[in-house]
Amino acid sequence: MPRRTPGKWPRLFEFEDQRWLPCILRNQMTDALRYLIVEMKIYDPIIPEFLWVMQKSRTKKVVDLCSGGTGPWHYLLGAIGDLEEVVERVTLTDLYPNENALKTLAAHHHLFAYTADSVNALDIDVKLEGVRTIFSSFHHFDTAEAISILQDAVDKKMPICVFEFTERRLVNLLITPISMVVLFAKLLCARPLTMSKFLFCLVLPVVPLIYIWDSAVSHLRSYSREELQALVGCVDNAGTFVWEIGQSTSPKTPLKNTFLIGYPKKRPAATNKSA
Ligand SMILES: C[S@@+](CC[C@H](N)C(=O)[O-])C[C@H]1O[C@@H](n2cnc3c(N)ncnc32)[C@H](O)[C@@H]1O
Repeated sequence: MPRRTPGKWPRLFEFEDQRWLPCILRNQMTDALRYLIVEMKIYDPIIPEFLWVMQKSRTKKVVDLCSGGTGPWHYLLGAIGDLEEVVERVTLTDLYPNENALKTLAAHHHLFAYTADSVNALDIDVKLEGVRTIFSSFHHFDTAEAISILQDAVDKKMPICVFEFTERRLVNLLITPISMVVLFAKLLCARPLTMSKFLFCLVLPVVPLIYIWDSAVSHLRSYSREELQALVGCVDNAGTFVWEIGQSTSPKTPLKNTFLIGYPKKRPAATNKSA
């Protein structure tokens, strides 16, 4: 597979991927994304897929990769009434951790923990065991990287859930600027209005501008179901996993959610420690 975004689109850059992007702007962007996800209940449609993977997994631990500003987790806690029955711990991780957001969620509920150190989804420490979840982020990885993420999950026998609400559709690109204006108008009305939010979202609106660019590029870089299927086809021993790729919709949100879930066909036997 070529090392680029599938389809005919060139692989454009996102500001969020740039190491030089100041933390203050990066965090405002991931906070804004969390706000959007929660307000629009964007990940409602994939709750059944997530619960299905948890049911098929031997572990109740979750390692959330590319967590940003915590994405949908706070909302999922409310939306899945018995989340605590299926999940015992969610560890939030990121290459550029938004520490304030992660700390706030961990303080809010004992289910959540976070890693303050950088965790690269392309090089996950063996100690980070659990079902791997990737929300709104798989498009950040080119085909070779995406395959290596899936390969590592298969090699380590870790179930994996990829959920993405961005999609390469003209309508998504067209509504991006309008929806972003609405988003930032609402964000500015939401309390608390911090000095940095006031400064970088209103006085000098850098955050909304780079957010519009990144959102459009995210749509363009997102993998279609066919492309996800092709990625799975490149994974060695993919046959040891059950893979499900599809799209979920819900009347609560106009966006379609593309998902890829994979879990080992055979549950590994429990180790007998007393032997
Ligand atoms: C679009 S945000 C999604 C955040 C969150 N999952 C959500 O749904 O709101 C993408 C996140 O992926 C992170 N990221 C990008 N490349 C990464 C990598 N190689 N390893 C870990 N995180 C990465 C970024 O720092 C950013 O926080």
